[in-house]
Amino acid sequence: MRAIPSSVPALVTGASSGIGEEMARQLAARGHGLTLVARRAGKLETLADELRSAHRVAVEVLPADLETAKGRLAVARRLRSRAPWLLVNNAGFATRGRLGELEASRERAEVQVNVVALHELTLAALPGLLAAGAGGILNVASTAALQPVPYMATYGGTKAFVLHFTEALAEEVRGSGVRAMALAPGPVRTEFGEVAGVEDYMDLARAMPVQRCVRVALRALDRGTVICTPGALNQVLAQGPRLAPRVAVRKVTAAIFQPR
Ligand SMILES: NC(=O)c1ccc[n+]([C@@H]2O[C@H](COP(=O)([O-])OP(=O)(O)OC[C@H]3O[C@@H](n4cnc5c(N)ncnc54)[C@H](OP(=O)(O)O)[C@@H]3O)[C@@H](O)[C@H]2O)c1
Repeated sequence: MRAIPSSVPALVTGASSGIGEEMARQLAARGHGLTLVARRAGKLETLADELRSAHRVAVEVLPADLETAKGRLAVARRLRSRAPWLLVNNAGFATRGRLGELEASRERAEVQVNVVALHELTLAALPGLLAAGAGGILNVASTAALQPVPYMATYGGTKAFVLHFTEALAEEVRGSGVRAMALAPGPVRTEFGEVAGVEDYMDLARAMPVQRCVRVALRALDRGTVICTPGALNQVLAQGPRLAPRVAVRKVTAAIFQPR
C-alpha cells in the first residue's frame, strides 16, 4: 500500500496540543493542507501561522467544542463539503477516580468527545471517501482499550469503542482505496497526564516523546496497518490482557489506577 498523497488534506481534531498538534506538524511537513480543530482558537492560530510559513501549506482553523452538538455539526459540515480527507479523530481526554464520586457532567462530556464526536465525524467523512476511493480515517484509541480500567472506567470504555469500531471499519473498507487505522498508544508525554490526573502513572511508565509516537503512527498508516501501538515495550505489554485471566487483569489495572 502507498502513502495517502499529500494532495489529500487532513482534518485533525485536538490539534491545539499533544498528539494532535504533532500530527499537524508532521502532516504539514509531508505537504498536506490542514484543517485544525479544538476549543483553544488562539493556540490553533499560532500553530497555523507557523505551519503556513514553515511548509507553505494551506492551513484552516476551525475552533469547535466537540462536547456540544453545535461544535460537532460545524466540523461534520466541513467534512461533507469536500472529499477525500485524511480525518484524524484525536481529540480526547480522561478522568480518574471512583465513578460514583466523579462529576457526572464531566463523565458525559468524556463520552461526547471521545466517542460521539469520533463516530459522527467518521459518518460525515466516510461517504465522500468511499465515493472518491481515497483518503483515510485515523482514530486515536489507547492501550487503555485493551482491558477494563477500574478508576478510569469511562475512559477505558470509550477507548474500547474506538478500537473495535475502527477495526471493524478497516475490514469493511478493505479494497476500496480508503483506509482506517486505530492508533493505540501507551503513555505519551502531552498535556493528557495533567488533565487526567495520571502524572504518577506517566512517570512510572516512562511516557514516550510525542514526536516518536506520531512518526511511528504515520509510517504505519502509510503501510495500511489496522492497529498501531508505538514502542516495542508497549506492544509486549499489550499482550498481557489477551493472555492473563480477566480477573487478574482487572485487579492489576485497579492497583495501578486506584486514587492515592
Ligand atoms: N498522552 C497519552 O498518554 C495518551 C495515550 C493513549 C491515548 N491518548 C489519546 O490521544 C489523544 C490526544 O491526547 P493527548 O495525549 O495529545 O492529550 P492533550 O495534550 O491533552 O490533547 C488533547 C486535545 O484534545 C482537545 N480536546 C479536548 N476536549 C475537547 C473538546 N471538548 N472539543 C474539542 N477538542 C477537545 C484539546 O484541545 P482544547 O483543550 O483546545 O479543546 C487538545 O488539543 C486523546 O484521544 C487521548 O485519549 C493519549
